Amino acid sequence: MNDTLFLPSFVSMVREIFSTNEFIPLHAPQFKGREKELVLQTLESTFVSSIGEFVDEFETRLADYTGAGFVVATSSGTAALHTALQLADVQNGDEVITVPLTFVATCNAIRYCGAEPVFVDVEWQTLGLCPESLGNFLDEHAQVRDDGLCWNRTSGRIIRACVPVHNLGHPARIYEIAAICAKYKIHLIEDSAESLGSLVGGVHTGRTGCMGTLSFNGNKIITTGGGGALITDDEALAGKAKHLTTTAKQSHPWLFLHDEVGFNYRLPNINAALGCGQLEQLYEYVDAKRALALRYQEWIDPLEDVAFVSEPTGTRSNYWLNALLLENRDVRDEFLQYTNDAGVMTRPMWTPMHTLPMYQNCQRDDLTTAQAIEARLVNVPSSVFR
Ligand SMILES: Cc1ncc(COP(=O)(O)O)c(C=O)c1O
Repeated sequence: MNDTLFLPSFVSMVREIFSTNEFIPLHAPQFKGREKELVLQTLESTFVSSIGEFVDEFETRLADYTGAGFVVATSSGTAALHTALQLADVQNGDEVITVPLTFVATCNAIRYCGAEPVFVDVEWQTLGLCPESLGNFLDEHAQVRDDGLCWNRTSGRIIRACVPVHNLGHPARIYEIAAICAKYKIHLIEDSAESLGSLVGGVHTGRTGCMGTLSFNGNKIITTGGGGALITDDEALAGKAKHLTTTAKQSHPWLFLHDEVGFNYRLPNINAALGCGQLEQLYEYVDAKRALALRYQEWIDPLEDVAFVSEPTGTRSNYWLNALLLENRDVRDEFLQYTNDAGVMTRPMWTPMHTLPMYQNCQRDDLTTAQAIEARLVNVPSSVFR
């Protein structure tokens, strides 16, 4: 297909898949299960806020689905990340290693703790943190001292945690990353906001680190309106997470006793009801998204100068957002302009974190791959369609 034909053919193909001549969003939620019935139950019971049976039910079902020992539902994925970082003891002046290609919430949560993100490059294969780059960065800059902590010899700060991201739903090489973090005594927290339903070697993303976090924002594979969760196999961490996210209130029949500065981060019951309705359909959603990915892939694969981003070997991706790699930034911009003008919503990758004003002075390794991916990647319509 020559260049002039590619853009109109792409738009026709997406219109055919979604069977509409109307605007096609990047990722719209769908409420075809028991969502309305369950939300209505919370209205009728009046328990719409932080107390109610749906929050517990949502947590139990999410634990069943992910295989996590414990789940604590939160008001957003950002809140879950902030909580996880605090439980990993991330303190004022510490450093946390993460990737430049992520949604800004990952870095914001680090800053909420008074810590600094340190950026290490991603890899083409997974779009996530490159284990080799992480290992080389730590070999060059880090040292585990007698206090058992990992010190950055260059900045003189403690590297307390590492937060890889399973970008667009595709699992990062988490076992390799975990081995490096263990060697350097760094807590591993997986930002799995985008990867509910994605597996590495049969294990759900978010379960290899000491904690993982999920998001149920309206654009995710399932939604609670707004919401998130912290998953862990560590009972003590889960207990602390629940305490911290419920204003650190001690249990008592009537007194208001709070034993530390907590947060109002608990997922409201009305949102959890919506989430329970959505979770019942998650198996179907993952299948539908994988079927959609296959349709894109079959169309893109025979073409030259454009590549479909497929799941990394040894993983099962939820294909949260399907993505294409175009030739260069100019071609990408032309693609974005044409498709959005044609009513087919497409978006570039996140603007790299180290170029944002709040994070431009953070320490960073060579970020060549992140920059190259950002220049070439576009996300294309990926809603569940059934
Ligand atoms: C990688 C990543 N981290 C964190 C978040 C934050 O989640 P939330 O919007 O639920 O706060 C999101 C999505 O929004 C995300 O994509």
